[in-house]
Amino acid sequence: METNNLIKTEAYVNGEWVSAGSGKTFDVINPATGELIASVPDMDRDDVRYAIDAANDAWPAYRELTANQRALLLKKWYALILENKEELAILMTKECGKVLQESLGEAEYGASFVEWFAEEAKRTYGDVIPATSNDKRIVVIKQSIGVVAALTPWNFPLAMITRKVAPALAAGSPVVVKPPSETPLTGLAIASLAEKAGFPRGVYNTVTTTDNSGVGKEFCENRKVRKLSFTGSTAVGKILMNQCSSTLKKLSLELGGNAPFIVFEDADIDEAVKGAITSKFRNSGQTCVCVNRFLAHDKIYDEFVQKLSRAVAALNVGNGLDKNIQIGPLISKKGLDKVQLHVKDAVDKGAEIRQGGKPMEGLFFEPTVLANATKEMIIANEEIFGPVAAVFRFNTEEEAIKIANDTECGLASYFYSKDVSRCWRVAEALECGMVGINEGLISTAVAPFGGVKESGIGREGSKYGMDYFMEIKYICFGGIK
Ligand code: SIN
Repeated sequence: METNNLIKTEAYVNGEWVSAGSGKTFDVINPATGELIASVPDMDRDDVRYAIDAANDAWPAYRELTANQRALLLKKWYALILENKEELAILMTKECGKVLQESLGEAEYGASFVEWFAEEAKRTYGDVIPATSNDKRIVVIKQSIGVVAALTPWNFPLAMITRKVAPALAAGSPVVVKPPSETPLTGLAIASLAEKAGFPRGVYNTVTTTDNSGVGKEFCENRKVRKLSFTGSTAVGKILMNQCSSTLKKLSLELGGNAPFIVFEDADIDEAVKGAITSKFRNSGQTCVCVNRFLAHDKIYDEFVQKLSRAVAALNVGNGLDKNIQIGPLISKKGLDKVQLHVKDAVDKGAEIRQGGKPMEGLFFEPTVLANATKEMIIANEEIFGPVAAVFRFNTEEEAIKIANDTECGLASYFYSKDVSRCWRVAEALECGMVGINEGLISTAVAPFGGVKESGIGREGSKYGMDYFMEIKYICFGGIK
């Protein structure tokens, strides 16, 4: 199957497919092969300002649609994404390197946010509050926030767009999406499906650029943008937050993690290894909720490391479009260099390579297990974003919790134990937004995704997700006789 029907080489602004005002373009490269996939417009701040204006002009009419009308548009978009999921999956694998099976999973995962928020559109209930005197009535309504700008990452080229855009559209807010320069084609492909679904002119816009900082600044400082939603690194999240202060813009941030995965002495080790593979090696270790630090109890440390190493040795590395591949390339040379640096640093400080450990041809890195990891190593504090499992040792539950929480981040945590009391104790003690107990894959549209501490602000998905795209208005109705 080919992806030609869905490959768009223009940006989608105000209901039209357009080039950059300057005529400039940039290339999109397949990280597995180094081949050129296509070139797309390299837009500047003026182009983006025009898209924001178009979205803002479309807002009054769009917010007047009934919730049911907006839900129907989202349902059509949902159906179109699913109808095209195989093509979308191939495109994602070509752009970001994730293996085809995972890309197919992402198409379904991404679509599930659209379905979920189509349903939630009809449930944005307000409140009636008992008034303080008989001549008054107090009512609370929820209204769409206005133009939403979405800055999305390359590791989930589809799902991170729908997770932001679907609740915005459901709430009555037009959107301007800026997919990353590594993976703009999936973003443009789903924009073309949104066009087919019939969203009114100007409601759905997608701009492409390599000028991340300039366009980011425009999103932050433009008063017509009422809400910015970003998924990416903590460092960039801090810059955006700073820039948003000039307009006091509402902000949702899904930032970096440093997820611990604790294996207690009472855990089912085989299950823990299965969970470890899922959670560490998804998208070649390039997700914010991927495990960064395995903590294994001293009593089961050797068994866990041995079984994990055996499972990791069985992972096949290659082009994600080929059969029976579990690990694709890293997204860039910079990503590969970082993985190499973390491994070298760990080994220099006493870690033992039990599996893998070396770069391969191109942007590939051997799936790796490092034993005897310690807190002095870079990997203890920084997200590696690659297929490397570093295993730390602990002796008590208190010590495990202390190590797990000893980070500025607090996105996801995982642990394996068969002791029910311990499960409650540890889940409550972990400083993070999401916990997987005896489970390595926790992402779903129905549950709130987000972090504490420097992992971000806000939650995406779930019944909580809509609130971040709506404003609450209190209405006091007086003079009632
Ligand atoms: C992310 O890595 O940012 C998202 C991961 C997910 O949704 O599971």
